Amino acid sequence: MANKKLTTNKGIPVPNDQASITTGKGSSYTLIQDTHLMEKLAHFTRERTPERVVHAKGAGAHGYFEVTNDLSKYSRAKFLSEVGKKTDMFVRFSTVGGEKGSADAKRDPRGFALKFYTEEGNYDLVGNNIPIFFIRDAIKFPDFVHTQKRDPTTNLADTTMFWDFLSLTPESVHQATFLFTDRGTPLNYRHMDGFSSHTYMWYNEKNEYVWVKYHFKTVLGNATLTNDEAVKICGENPDHATEDLFIAIEEEDYPQWDVFVQIMTPEEALEYQFDPFDVTKVWYHGDYPLIPLGKMVLNRNPKNYFAEVEQAAFAPSNFVPGIGPSPDRLLQGRLFAYEDAQRHRLGANHHQIPINRPKNAKATNYQRDGPMNVSDNGGSTPNYYPNSFNGSEPDSTVTPPTIDVDAHINRHTREIEDVDFVQVGEFWRRVLSKTDKEHLVYNLKQHLGNAQERIQYRQTALFYKAEPEYGTAVANALGLNTEKVKELSSLTPEERANATKQ
Ligand code: HEM
Repeated sequence: MANKKLTTNKGIPVPNDQASITTGKGSSYTLIQDTHLMEKLAHFTRERTPERVVHAKGAGAHGYFEVTNDLSKYSRAKFLSEVGKKTDMFVRFSTVGGEKGSADAKRDPRGFALKFYTEEGNYDLVGNNIPIFFIRDAIKFPDFVHTQKRDPTTNLADTTMFWDFLSLTPESVHQATFLFTDRGTPLNYRHMDGFSSHTYMWYNEKNEYVWVKYHFKTVLGNATLTNDEAVKICGENPDHATEDLFIAIEEEDYPQWDVFVQIMTPEEALEYQFDPFDVTKVWYHGDYPLIPLGKMVLNRNPKNYFAEVEQAAFAPSNFVPGIGPSPDRLLQGRLFAYEDAQRHRLGANHHQIPINRPKNAKATNYQRDGPMNVSDNGGSTPNYYPNSFNGSEPDSTVTPPTIDVDAHINRHTREIEDVDFVQVGEFWRRVLSKTDKEHLVYNLKQHLGNAQERIQYRQTALFYKAEPEYGTAVANALGLNTEKVKELSSLTPEERANATKQ
């Protein structure tokens, strides 16, 4: 006799789990009164929740964050309040464009999603392994993502569609360049740095605020694959990074990241040579050095992938007192999109799923009911506010700073300016080694080379505009006429689009 009894979902013992109830011993009819069979099939056909619309393939782990440097004069967040303070975390790494079963080694940014279970509620920092992004207005995101997904007719990935959009969206040239270096194919999730990418606000008890960017540096050193290595791994082991993370933690070789911030005052933000809230730009480390903050250690594998990783819900809108958003147009859109996606993907009560619960704080408010409500639903406490029955009260001491804005409401088009090419040029000239440049050009040849030729011209012109040596190298690799590339690079985006129409 087995120790544990098999039961139905209602706890009723099951006498036999190998044979349905039928009319006879051989081939025969199955009876609908086999309620165990009905329950088993019905539950099976409902096993899939919708996969994330982006970042569908991922791996997660539990761990902690520990403060190593006291920056509490900048932020009142309690989890940052003193050196040595530890906060429980759950982390999920991912690729972006592929489906749930896609290969870990594909060229793509990697998601770097962090949940801090603080005593003031859950704080989520949902970043990537690249410090910048392709676009800087949320209204462009659905179109951008469509170009990374499958062509609606052929159901195939389409390089023309990918580069058509990017070449018509010149602000993407910085991240497109990053992505086509070998940083677009990290060795695995452990050898990968992470970034908030966006600028966030930190504010202290006196409501004095600064702007910050977060950097997570892997202690193992950021390491990458070449294009050809990545292609090979995609075929040989599509789950290589998932496997690597799981095995390392299982073997108690715990991955660790040193955490830093860059800090800018509001006054400095007005003067900086780049728009500090434009997510297509970095803040130069020479201008704003990395200041140590803490360390992040991953030391426990999930027990159940679906329960903990698939159902994890990270949202950039989950801030704790002391941390807030900035006037970054892309971030502003994200503040809506994630919880909206999770209400669709997991339901209105997704915050009650154990992995998403504020396990070191208590959620108390007047929201009630809804599908799959598995909490005590507020018990017998009042379900309206204000009330005179000792219900929970707002705490005005956590009011964030007031931000003054000069408003001119309209759909303000953000023009492409010469400054949008400066950091890409610097990246080519000062950051990339000779080998990095050779790999970048080769990687672009392998990908952009498959797009329609007119689109190759349009995109290469953007590289040329950033740095003629870069554009010339790509043009030569693709067999394009450099004079034509140069000419296109001197046009406005509209003129360039017209000159390269189908
Ligand atoms: C996942 C939207 C930009 C990092 C997602 C999801 C949505 C989304 C809907 C799926 C959420 C879920 O189902 O749980 C957007 C929109 C963006 C944007 C509308 C721009 C307007 C970015 C940027 C970053 C980023 C700039 C990084 C800096 C991530 C990560 C995940 C994700 C890491 C996966 C979270 C997880 O592991 O569950 N995004 N995204 N996204 N996004 Fe974004």
